[in-house]
Amino acid sequence: MGPVTKRLFVKNYGCQMNVYDGRRMADVLAPLGYAPTPAPDDADLVILNTCHIREKAAEKVYSELGRLAHLKRKRRMLIAVGGCVAQAEGEEVLARAPCVDLVFGPQTYHRLPDLIARAERARTIDTEFPPEPKFDSLPEAASPQGVAAYLTVQEGCDRFCAFCVVPYTRGAEYSRPAADVIAEARRLIAAGAREIMLLGQNVNAYHGAAPDGGEWRLARLIRELGRIDGLARIRYVTSHPADMDHALIAAHGEIETLMPFLHLPVQSGSDRVLARMNRRYTAAHYLKIIGKLRAARPDIAFASDFIVGHPGETDEDFAATLRLVAEVGYAQAYSFKYSARPGTPAAEMEQVPDAVKATRLAELQQAIEASQAAFNRASVGRIVPVLFDRSGRCGAQAAGRSPYLQPVHVDCASAAEAARLQGRIAPVELIAAKANSLAGRLERAQAAPA
Ligand code: 5AD
Ligand code: SF4
Repeated sequence: MGPVTKRLFVKNYGCQMNVYDGRRMADVLAPLGYAPTPAPDDADLVILNTCHIREKAAEKVYSELGRLAHLKRKRRMLIAVGGCVAQAEGEEVLARAPCVDLVFGPQTYHRLPDLIARAERARTIDTEFPPEPKFDSLPEAASPQGVAAYLTVQEGCDRFCAFCVVPYTRGAEYSRPAADVIAEARRLIAAGAREIMLLGQNVNAYHGAAPDGGEWRLARLIRELGRIDGLARIRYVTSHPADMDHALIAAHGEIETLMPFLHLPVQSGSDRVLARMNRRYTAAHYLKIIGKLRAARPDIAFASDFIVGHPGETDEDFAATLRLVAEVGYAQAYSFKYSARPGTPAAEMEQVPDAVKATRLAELQQAIEASQAAFNRASVGRIVPVLFDRSGRCGAQAAGRSPYLQPVHVDCASAAEAARLQGRIAPVELIAAKANSLAGRLERAQAAPA
């Protein structure tokens, strides 16, 4: 075909799924002659792939659009707003930002070629939830993702937590057929991936069509992926505690390539708040699942998300969250001030004052940082397999990730040795814990020349 090259700039906000979607948008546009460019300045098409999870994330889009409006005055370009803000706000984006040519939701980006052709003539919007899954019409991924790759297996959510916009922005729960997932995994591995992170807003609710009829849950899917040669590490994110079934817990003890690190957001340690959030588990139930996972895989570590200042949260409720943090001993956790999202049930409840949220957030973050630091300190002295995925800051340095996703830096004998490590897993002795990473030493005697 040889279409003229046009320049595409995609800016992703929010979660890993947006990173995955951003790549897939580039794949859809490649046959039209769009090639990625690293900055918006010389782009013919700019896509803001937005996040609506909290107000702050959503507002970022409008400040970026302000900057883009300036650029657009100087040169001809198309500006598109995709993702979750586009889905939630639709027409409002067009009204608030006159520079925007196209608004499209997370479920319609397979239609981008047509949408762009229409947007060249008149401002266009498509925030439908189409009956056909977009995955069926996406081209095969064109750009290699590198050593650690993302793969969406499930999308949307039917759980309706009181605080969350996801069921409205991403739509009803959908699982991709297992055969499609496996085929995409094989392609990623052929393009150099050693680790695959399976993505879903509620990934452990996965129930995709099985190749032999019937349905596979996530445990079965992981088991099959575990058989693929060359795939060294499997992870999945994000899980809902109430969807951790027996088979999935058991899989952690049985599948060696399933990494011993699980992001299992609890949100709060108070049963009253959990009920208000419509989470459908208690703190005791959550701790029981953690216990079962530890029994299945003794070296497993946990990450979580927390919301402070959810409507109805008292000092006593917050104290319960702090107790839970101490009890689990998280390796990592993210915490957020509750942000009222339009259209969600919690936005209608009586709100906690911002100053109270701020104080609680500071206290929780301190507890989390202490927990993370303790976990990292306890890693020092251990020998762990590190998957090297980038070069370090200096020439003869290599960087990668431990099984717990901790960034690990090692000094190599030469830049050539650092380069040779890329894409490989090698045993590393962890020698020092820094603020956000670990320093390690290559175990040369054990580093098999693979
Ligand atoms: N306010 C604050 N945090 C939220 N999250 C989801 N919705 C909200 C909200 N309205 C957090 C949850 C979730 C993470 C992705 O974002 O902790 O797990
Ligand atoms: Fe943000 Fe949720 Fe949309 Fe991801 S799915 S971009 S976290 S609102």
